Amino acid sequence: MREEKPVRLFVGVPLADALRDALERHLAAAGRLPGRAVPPANWHLTLRFLGATDAARHRRVMDELARADAPPPFDLTLSALGAFPRGGRAKVLWIGVGEGADALRALAGSVEAAAVRAGFAPEPKPFSPHLTLSRIDPPADVRPLLDGAPPFGGRMRVDEFILFRSHLGHGDPRYEPLHRFPLR
Ligand code: 2AM
Repeated sequence: MREEKPVRLFVGVPLADALRDALERHLAAAGRLPGRAVPPANWHLTLRFLGATDAARHRRVMDELARADAPPPFDLTLSALGAFPRGGRAKVLWIGVGEGADALRALAGSVEAAAVRAGFAPEPKPFSPHLTLSRIDPPADVRPLLDGAPPFGGRMRVDEFILFRSHLGHGDPRYEPLHRFPLR
């Protein structure tokens, strides 16, 4: 039988179209973002990066995600811009979660537990809710941008999470939704 190649997977929350459009307009008013901007079509909130995953573990993680102890649907707002690391040499520009951060953290915890049950090594870093807007190489001082940007505050209902496949190639990756898991 032909061996299936591992696929690059992650679990995330998609953005509602209305919030995506509003954030795009909000950012356009701030001018060009530093670094390589993530195209709005690729915006999402990562819950758990799984990486290269073989077919057997892919099936296991699907099963475990389907029975994850996830919270009921909740509201989320996107609030202020931030950067990793903070300070003058930022590599990642992001927008943070205001309302709904605790529920998103709970959801990420459920997804993490499901991933570990499926055989993935536990994620050592604590979950930090954010939506990546641009990747900056070489690192740059984004403090003036962070200090000057008006707060956003767009809102959406989170009622599902998705197992995505990430297709890498030239240019931006393509994120393919493989399976949707509704919150109940
Ligand atoms: P980020 O946006 O916070 O950087 C899909 O690739 C998503 O998985 C990205 O949005 C990224 O989250 C996260 N990701 C990609 N590569 C990763 C890695 N090696 N370790 C952890 N998270 C990663």
